[in-house]
Amino acid sequence: MNINQLPFSQACENNKAPILDVIRPLFLNSTHLLEIGTGTAQHAVHFAQHLPHLIWQTSDQQGYLEGIEMRLAQVQLMNLRQPLALDVTQTWPLAKQANIDAMFTANTLHIMAKEMVKAFFNGVGEHLQSQGQLCIYGPFNYEGNYTSESNARFDIWLAEQNPQSAIRDIEWIIQLAKEQGLKLMADHTMPANNRLLHFIKM
Ligand SMILES: C[S@@+](CC[C@H](N)C(=O)[O-])C[C@H]1O[C@@H](n2cnc3c(N)ncnc32)[C@H](O)[C@@H]1O
Repeated sequence: MNINQLPFSQACENNKAPILDVIRPLFLNSTHLLEIGTGTAQHAVHFAQHLPHLIWQTSDQQGYLEGIEMRLAQVQLMNLRQPLALDVTQTWPLAKQANIDAMFTANTLHIMAKEMVKAFFNGVGEHLQSQGQLCIYGPFNYEGNYTSESNARFDIWLAEQNPQSAIRDIEWIIQLAKEQGLKLMADHTMPANNRLLHFIKM
């Protein structure tokens, strides 16, 4: 892979500023953040640049690591960490004393199969410190209903790519979080029919 082949998402370019506006105050007192499903790493670079007090640990499935490493090599950021190979269904490659007091994930829970979403929350429950912050960005359904026509179309497209992918019901997400001791603090409206869910581990 060369620099001209860097994975790129236009959606990330569009949503990184609005996401930063929401997460900046939430991560004000956080020190060590783990991102799950870093993808193109456009978010990681942007957020690490604007939140220099926070160590931003990237991670993703093995196949994404080369692209992430290449994008990280384009910037010199002391607080941005090389990606961990982290598949939520496997043992998370974290030290016992990783001191993770914040976690972030964007556009992942509708890609993951249901069992992976459960594994994601098990991992959060195991590795996020008490009083830690969890922010989840993406589309969600409410009481089984889409919030927009475009989300309904997106869900059909998702199922065509992978029948196990789907926009998740927020009620299920809140329940999985609760089982891991996480409380929903806020559900922010975001552009393009997305949400940003803020949880705290009690
Ligand atoms: C649509 S991409 C989103 C990437 C990026 N966060 C963004 O907002 O553009 C979905 C991401 O979920 C990750 N993902 C899917 N299944 C996963 C799993 N089992 N464990 C960890 N990450 C997973 C993919 O590797 C990919 O990075």
